[in-house]
Amino acid sequence: MTVAAETENGKLKCVDIHFSELSFHANKKCLLHGISGEFLGGQLTGILGASGAGKSTLLNILAGQVHFGASGNIYINGEPRNNKLFHKISSYIMQDDMVQPRLTVRELISSATELKLGSHYTQRAKDLIIEDVLSSMRLENCIDTRTEHLSGGQRKRLCIALELVNNPPVVFLDEPTTGLDDVSTKQCISLLKSLAEKGKTIICTIHQPSNTVFELFDQVYFLSEGNCVFSGSTESIVPYLAGLGMPCPDFYSPADYLIELVQNEKCAVSLKNQSDKEIRIKDHNRNYSQYANPYAMDGVTNYVYAVTFWKLLETVLDIIQKKITTNQ
Ligand SMILES: Nc1ncnc2c1ncn2[C@@H]1O[C@H](COP(=O)(O)OP(=O)(O)O)[C@@H](O)[C@H]1O
Ligand SMILES: [Mg+2]
Repeated sequence: MTVAAETENGKLKCVDIHFSELSFHANKKCLLHGISGEFLGGQLTGILGASGAGKSTLLNILAGQVHFGASGNIYINGEPRNNKLFHKISSYIMQDDMVQPRLTVRELISSATELKLGSHYTQRAKDLIIEDVLSSMRLENCIDTRTEHLSGGQRKRLCIALELVNNPPVVFLDEPTTGLDDVSTKQCISLLKSLAEKGKTIICTIHQPSNTVFELFDQVYFLSEGNCVFSGSTESIVPYLAGLGMPCPDFYSPADYLIELVQNEKCAVSLKNQSDKEIRIKDHNRNYSQYANPYAMDGVTNYVYAVTFWKLLETVLDIIQKKITTNQ
C-alpha cells in the first residue's frame, strides 16, 4: 500500500503531531528536558536554536529515527504513535546529501520511484509523478545533468524530490539550507512552504534564518540547551517578547534576537518558564490523558522485543543442537 491511500477526495489528510514530556539521555547527559509541543498538518514548522541546542535530536526522535534513550509521549492525530505505521507516512531528509555523483537526475528519480512505488503504478502514472515532483522542486531544466554537476541548491532540492515520489504527508528535514547561499535558501524554504500549503506537515531544523526566510515559517519551536524557550507563530514572537519586557529592537531578526537573549541565563530561565506555562495550558485544553500510551517509550519497547526475540532464538538453537547431538 502506498501513501496515496492517505488521501481523501484527492486532498491530503492532514497529520498533526503532538508530543509531551519528551526527554533524551545519551552518555549520561540529558539532551532534552521533558519538552512538549505540537506541529500541525498544512504548516511549515521550523525548529530553531543555536548550534548544540538539541534541534537534530528532537527532529530525529519525532521522525522515529531514535530507538534508545528517549522517553515521553508522541501522538499522531491524537493517537499514540505507531512507529511502523508512521514510517510509512513520513520521510526524513538528512543534513548531508548522499546522492550518487555519476548518475543523472532522471536516473536517480526513476530508481527512487521504482523502489518506492514498485508495481502498484503503471509506467505512465510513474512518469506523471516524476514530472510533477521535478516541476514542484524546479528541477525540470537539469533532468539530464549528473548530480556531481548540480549546484548546492539543486542537489538539496533533488534530495527532497527523491523523498516526495510516494507523496508522504509528513516530511522531516535536518538543516536543509546548510551550505546554500541566501537566494537558494529562500527558494528551498519557499518550496517547502508550498508543500505545506498542499496539506503536508513539514518540519525542519534551521540555524539562524534571515528575516525573510524566518517569515516564511508558519510556526517556530525554539530550543535552548534542550529546553523550549518559545513555541508559536512567527508573527506572534515580537509582541510576545515585548509583553515579557524583552522588546525586539527594530530591524533585528527575531530569531537572532532570541538566540542572543538565551545567552543570558536569567532571560533563558524566564523564557523557558513562560513557554512551559503556555504549553501546559494548551495540553490541559487538549486532554489526551484518556489514551494509555503503549509507545510512550519506543526505545524501551524495542529493547524488550529484542531481548524476547533473542531468548526465543537461543531456545530454538538449543533444541536444534540437542536434536543433532541425539541423532549423532
Ligand atoms: N549521542 C550523543 N551522545 C552525546 N552527546 C550527544 C549525542 N548526540 C548529540 N549530543 C550532544 O547534544 C547536543 C545537541 O545536539 P544536536 O541535537 O545535534 O544539536 P543541534 O542540532 O541543535 O546543533 C550537542 O551538545 C551534542 O554534542
Ligand atoms: Mg543539528
